[in-house]
Amino acid sequence: MKILLVGSGGREHTIAWKLAKSEKVEKIYVAPGNGGTALEDKCENIAITDIDQLLVFAKENKIDLTVVGPEEPLIKGITDKFKAEGLRVFGPCSKGAALEGSKSFSKEFMKKYNVKTAAYEVFTDSEKAINYLKSCEYPIVIKADGLAAGKGVNICETYKDAEDTIVDFMVNDRFKGAGQKVVIEEFLEGVEASILSITDGHTIIPFLSAKDHKQIFDGGKGPNTGGMGVLAPNPFVTEEVLEQFKSNIMDQTLAGIKEEKFDFKGIIFFGIMITKKGTYLLEYNVRMGDPETQSVLSLMESDLVDVIEAALDEKLSETEIKWKKGACCNVVLASGGYPGDFEKGFEITIDEEIKNNVFIAGAIMKDGKLYTSGGRVLSVVGIGSDINEARENAYKNVEKVSFEKMYFRKDIGLV
Ligand code: AMP
Ligand code: GLY
Repeated sequence: MKILLVGSGGREHTIAWKLAKSEKVEKIYVAPGNGGTALEDKCENIAITDIDQLLVFAKENKIDLTVVGPEEPLIKGITDKFKAEGLRVFGPCSKGAALEGSKSFSKEFMKKYNVKTAAYEVFTDSEKAINYLKSCEYPIVIKADGLAAGKGVNICETYKDAEDTIVDFMVNDRFKGAGQKVVIEEFLEGVEASILSITDGHTIIPFLSAKDHKQIFDGGKGPNTGGMGVLAPNPFVTEEVLEQFKSNIMDQTLAGIKEEKFDFKGIIFFGIMITKKGTYLLEYNVRMGDPETQSVLSLMESDLVDVIEAALDEKLSETEIKWKKGACCNVVLASGGYPGDFEKGFEITIDEEIKNNVFIAGAIMKDGKLYTSGGRVLSVVGIGSDINEARENAYKNVEKVSFEKMYFRKDIGLV
């Protein structure tokens, strides 16, 4: 098989690595890829990001399967376009991708199908929003409707914070349109979990659960980032939580996908909050998480190509996904300064013995050497028979990587 994989992050390096393990796969083109996929077995980076050009490439190169990593091309309709030309592509059509692309759309979907979620209101008028805020209890959560590069959610402790947020999002138009509509929702207190899942539109199979660490500093302090490390499985996702998730969130979501007739053969990733009042859905994503993927796919025993093909052929009800026993911890090594300003262009050295435990996110390959090019530079993975061993192995491996201004959290996987 010839595969086209769209994306350029740590998630895509991990997907490429996992796909390459399949005997069915002969070649993987990664568009545009990164310094990690440049070296990965069977992989070749191609410098294309435009959807129409990707379509031309897929046709000219007789691509058997296209796998879409990030949400943006899905929301823009890459799947619809590829399907219209008879190509096999893994990822939801744009209507289904709106579950991630629009917070108001996804909240309305949750309400319509009785998915357990925080109470909310939607506003398109800043004065009405500010007026509403006067009667709210605090803290309250304000979310920009559209994609805002991970910066569109504010937890407001006071009325003043909330008013400032509305001005920032709606009046000053910080997100260039994406904040012109806002969702204002009830604040939920609890622990978060990421449940990546696969669906063929008839069945949803959850992957192993994962625990992201979103803040930049140890102890969950400081500003939010894209994710500083992940433990899988998530120790807070007990059998009981999983039951609540299935009966109050997953089954309702599947019913909605069917009822709305979304052509949804792809990943649905549930961001959940486990609270004293039960398990709530915070959000849907329509792609794998980054850096959740690095830990979750590291534990997947099954052939990922088989799993994806089962979804495309609507055979998930007959499919069992096998997982390795134990746990996986990945620690993100970032450029000092991230998520604020940071320098790039530093050479990265990685000991040969841990090459298989490293997934590159923001680094480029030049003359056979890796250089930092992003805030989150790479993930170092450790696997173990339990959480502690996975953690220890991950941090042992971290010692075998170095670059100038390297920063990482010391408490990933500590629970
Ligand atoms: P979202 O993009 O909706 O997942 O929001 C980003 C982050 O904001 C989540 O991962 C949570 O940490 C936090 N968050 C979102 N909604 C809520 C809520 N209703 N209550 C508390 N925290 C929330
Ligand atoms: N790590 C969170 C996400 O991918 O959305």
